[in-house]
Amino acid sequence: MCGIVGYVGKQKAASIILEGLKRLEYRGYDSAGLCVLQDGRLDVAKKAGRVEVLAKEATRHRFNGTTGIGHTRWATHGGVTDANAHPHVSSDGHFALIHNGVIENYAQMKAFLSGKGYTFRSETDTEVLCNLIAYHYAKEPAGQNGTNRFLESVRKALDHVEGTYGIAVLCIDFPGEMVAARKASPLLVGVGDNEYILASDASALINRTQNVVYLKDGELVHVTPAGFTISTLDQMDVSPVVDRITWSVADAELGSHAHFMEKEIFEQPQALENTMRGRFSEDGSTANFGGLNLSATELRQIDRFMFCACGSAWHACLVAEHLIERYARLPVEVDYASEFRYRNSPLDRNTLFFVMSQSGETIDTLAALREAKRKGYRVLAINNVVGSSIAREADGGVYQHVGPEIGVASTKAFTSQLVLGAMLALYIARLRDMSFNDGVQYVNALKGAPELVRQTLRQAPLIKEIAQRYAKHADFLFLGRLSLFPIALEGALKLKEISYIHAEGYPAAEMKHGPIALITEKCPSVFFVPKGEIFNKIVSSMQEIKARKGKIIAIVTEGCELPPGLADEVIPIPDCHEAVLPIVATVPVQLLSYYIALALKCDVDKQRNLAKSVTVE
Ligand code: AGP
Repeated sequence: MCGIVGYVGKQKAASIILEGLKRLEYRGYDSAGLCVLQDGRLDVAKKAGRVEVLAKEATRHRFNGTTGIGHTRWATHGGVTDANAHPHVSSDGHFALIHNGVIENYAQMKAFLSGKGYTFRSETDTEVLCNLIAYHYAKEPAGQNGTNRFLESVRKALDHVEGTYGIAVLCIDFPGEMVAARKASPLLVGVGDNEYILASDASALINRTQNVVYLKDGELVHVTPAGFTISTLDQMDVSPVVDRITWSVADAELGSHAHFMEKEIFEQPQALENTMRGRFSEDGSTANFGGLNLSATELRQIDRFMFCACGSAWHACLVAEHLIERYARLPVEVDYASEFRYRNSPLDRNTLFFVMSQSGETIDTLAALREAKRKGYRVLAINNVVGSSIAREADGGVYQHVGPEIGVASTKAFTSQLVLGAMLALYIARLRDMSFNDGVQYVNALKGAPELVRQTLRQAPLIKEIAQRYAKHADFLFLGRLSLFPIALEGALKLKEISYIHAEGYPAAEMKHGPIALITEKCPSVFFVPKGEIFNKIVSSMQEIKARKGKIIAIVTEGCELPPGLADEVIPIPDCHEAVLPIVATVPVQLLSYYIALALKCDVDKQRNLAKSVTVE
């Protein structure tokens, strides 16, 4: 997914845009560019590579204008080259455009425009849209019945677009003006002191204002030095609603940490406290969710849950499935959002549908939400970004309140989703058969989770030392059972996405049905070994690995004694309630992947090929 920044105001735009792009770089970082409208010219600098490469290139330009746009790219159409970097300028030189999304009918439009004499310098779908706007502008009689020719040309061009977009456009004939529009790709307008900053997300503008207007799908915003107006594709005026961002600049900055991932791993105790704050009942026996918009009577009629999500959020749904079935005694189905939207699965009237998404912009999860709503179901969202598309389109839900998660690898947002899943299981269970005392025990266990995470974080030096000794392996297995099987999946994903090592998560007992063929001294296994009914079964699986000279890193709850010599490495974690165990067990695998990536000198916060939120299909 790409990052978009636009500026209209009294200050020089270039430095503000570059600062915003640096803050958005976690969203995509193949290439970057900016354009400043000055002296009747669209002055563009753009380069493949990171924002610092662009910043260096920008010093070769005399950017003095106070209107500009900037972009960090995560390539969809066309390779990572200077020519494919945004902004794109129309072949008639009238317009500059940046875009986040995918235009599905770009090929037909490109053929049409080529026939009209427009030329192309890139392989992108974005350049086609830029020329399409120019085409409509050339056709648009100047100032037809008082409308703005620039705005109307963009509106007309978007009428022909199939696909998704978040765009910002400049026109040489309209100095000091910018037009932006969104469909499925997030955009918000920061309302500053005589200045307006357009951005893909709030982290790009939080250092200049906390007052924002979230654009909705199908809306266009026209910004001038005098202010801004919002209208729809069918020319209806929209009264802007100004929201206030509740977190601060510091939340979106590194502080004393080496990486955002490190910062966010160590923020987890506080993040869990923020997630749970104000969400337990007065009698301390259950959870309280104001935003579900469902009465206790309605919730008691629910006889099935469905969860949809992607990536780490999908792993969190698998843990929620385990806890809801274990404690609320209701069946749960979990599906990948990208699968659900085309599977056409039968859902019964008493199914309560949840989507889980940190960003609230993952397009597959948004599409699953829309498909479930189309089928007539109430859809609730567990989400971390106020004003995000999923937050706005859901029928209710629960915010995670962990502040911006900048690290591309999800950490604090993931454990926050785990605790909310555990609280949801408690809430439903207490509406049904769970006793008051069991509820109090469960609540107290959740309240104690942040401190147990703090204790586990103190294993960081041990885990770092283990990571340095295992960093050279090319393959890993992560093996867990029941509610720790999803944590095995999460551990494998973390290792894959930040250190590029091949890793697979499996239910521990499944390992002998094939994956055990991978076991040699060169393929270590990370085992989750909790106290309890299946401890001996897990030890048997470990023996099977050991018998084949496989190295074992065991994450073991305190109080469990492994047979001597069975594990090559032991990482102790505090013993705890079953609802808290997945949260605590996640911390060692987050740290293990982080320290292995460091040992391999990987760019932990800007991994190759990844983007923080995938807003393209
Ligand atoms: C997690 O480490 C990954 N970066 C990725 O799997 C992520 O969880 C997934 O893309 C879902 O994102 P969302 O929670 O914002 O919807």
